[in-house]
Amino acid sequence: MDERYCSGISELDTQHEQIEEAVASLLDAMESKASADLLQSALVRLDELLRFHFAVEDSVMEILSYPFVLEHRFAHREILQHIGDLKDVLRQRGAIDDSSGSVHKLAFDIARHDRVFAGFVKTHGESLRH
Ligand SMILES: [Fe+2]
Ligand SMILES: [Fe+2]
Repeated sequence: MDERYCSGISELDTQHEQIEEAVASLLDAMESKASADLLQSALVRLDELLRFHFAVEDSVMEILSYPFVLEHRFAHREILQHIGDLKDVLRQRGAIDDSSGSVHKLAFDIARHDRVFAGFVKTHGESLRH
């Protein structure tokens, strides 16, 4: 994983790696025009990982009084909304692709917000490391 996303809290860093892998699997499934079932499970897996991870990040933001908590929470909500939209499209059309680049953008958004957050945790999160 890119060093800039390292928070130094192993649980968070492991979750980020799992999310990266889940995004890559989803992109793979879309590019290879996988079956609706496979696309659905890739979306569900990513959605579950993100929901769990966002809840953990939310607690860490609270504990450390992260100054950009509202903005970061908003970004999380938007990302989950986007996954929900993709699920709707898949249900309606039986397929999804990334011709609009929206999943690439989603991955970029996750990383952009978390880079700032990881930097903060690195300098303020000593009490959470073990
Ligand atoms: Fe994160
Ligand atoms: Fe985040």
